[in-house]
Amino acid sequence: MIISSSDDYRAAAQKFLPPFLFHYVDGGAYAEQTLRRNVDDFAAVALRQRVLKDMSRLDTGIELFGEKLSIPVALSPVGLTGMFRRRGEVQAARAADAHGIPFTMSSVSVCPIEEVAPKLQRPMWFQLYVLKDRGFMQNALERAQAAGCTTLVFTVDMPVPGARYRDAHSGMSGPNAALRRYWQAVTHPRWAVDVGLLGRPHDLGNISAYRGSPTGLEDYMGYLGANFDPSISWKDLEWIRAFWKGPMVIKGILDPEDAKDAVRFGADGIIVSNHGGRQLDGVLSSARALPAIADAVKGQIKILADSGIRNGLDVVRAIALGADCAMIGRAFIYALATAGEAGVKHLLELLEKEMRVAMTLTSVARVADITGDLLVREA
Ligand code: FNR
Repeated sequence: MIISSSDDYRAAAQKFLPPFLFHYVDGGAYAEQTLRRNVDDFAAVALRQRVLKDMSRLDTGIELFGEKLSIPVALSPVGLTGMFRRRGEVQAARAADAHGIPFTMSSVSVCPIEEVAPKLQRPMWFQLYVLKDRGFMQNALERAQAAGCTTLVFTVDMPVPGARYRDAHSGMSGPNAALRRYWQAVTHPRWAVDVGLLGRPHDLGNISAYRGSPTGLEDYMGYLGANFDPSISWKDLEWIRAFWKGPMVIKGILDPEDAKDAVRFGADGIIVSNHGGRQLDGVLSSARALPAIADAVKGQIKILADSGIRNGLDVVRAIALGADCAMIGRAFIYALATAGEAGVKHLLELLEKEMRVAMTLTSVARVADITGDLLVREA
């Protein structure tokens, strides 16, 4: 099978993964309209082709939160990444590290933070959800800080879990013997021994920190489902702001007014995101939300964006629409599921090549020069 794009990785992943896992990553909420629009709306962004400007020296790098990134891309947090490949968080993080970009560890990870962080050259980012169990949150923040994580990604678009029909049909939510067996295999010592990463066998990663009986995925999912906190407001975030020493980024912003609140709150960044179409269907795609948000807060706060970015051209489009940096979720999971660390490395090489082509043919030599001027404005 020839693999030359993230779509090819998606097709390959569908062959390799058990259906409940493929649909868990591939699916969205309700009728999946936002999921589709995320991709379609980026694809519809037309750029102005410009030629004959000597593009022999291109620089795809940026600086973000005091770190140098080889391309303006970071890996989005994806829960249960370790279900897609043995020690999946380690493999994805190593690939990101090798390419010179950040990996964001989901608070719903299979591998513990303490296993992943020491394997990397650069500091890891850490993502946290708002849970009623503030003890869990405090414990996770302390562990992340002790492991050297710099940037905190605080996800605010999940005060309640989304309505995901595919998960119900595929058996990902609710009791499922196949899923239970798979989970047992993932958390079995052999998964660790085979790749020589044996650290804490039987450890349920960050999941082990939750209070309750950590006897399996279903228990954990039940705990999590009951613990999302719809009472959350900006005021509740103040202790986290005070506690966390590094940059704090608010993930799940789609409205310019919320972006302005994030500036007032003192956040270092926002992630324009609809959670990859997994929460509220019918909301704006990131491509459509970005311009108004950039108008409202560009320059006052770093703007990151995910949801629908599938290739290097989309990265350039996201930046032209107002982002400072793009993030990818499903694209790297498809590559991880297909070919592990090597797959994610390959995907990032493809993204960089595609970015270079897009920058050459729009005649921009530096990421800072990718602006709204590149957009084709219909009369
Ligand atoms: C996610 N996402 C997510 N976000 C988050 O803040 N914490 C998490 O644990 C997860 N888990 C998760 C699991 C899976 C399977 C997916 C597909 C997504 C959302 C993720 O960070 C990101 O916002 C989207 O994936 C971006 O959209 P694309 O790139 O997948 O289109």
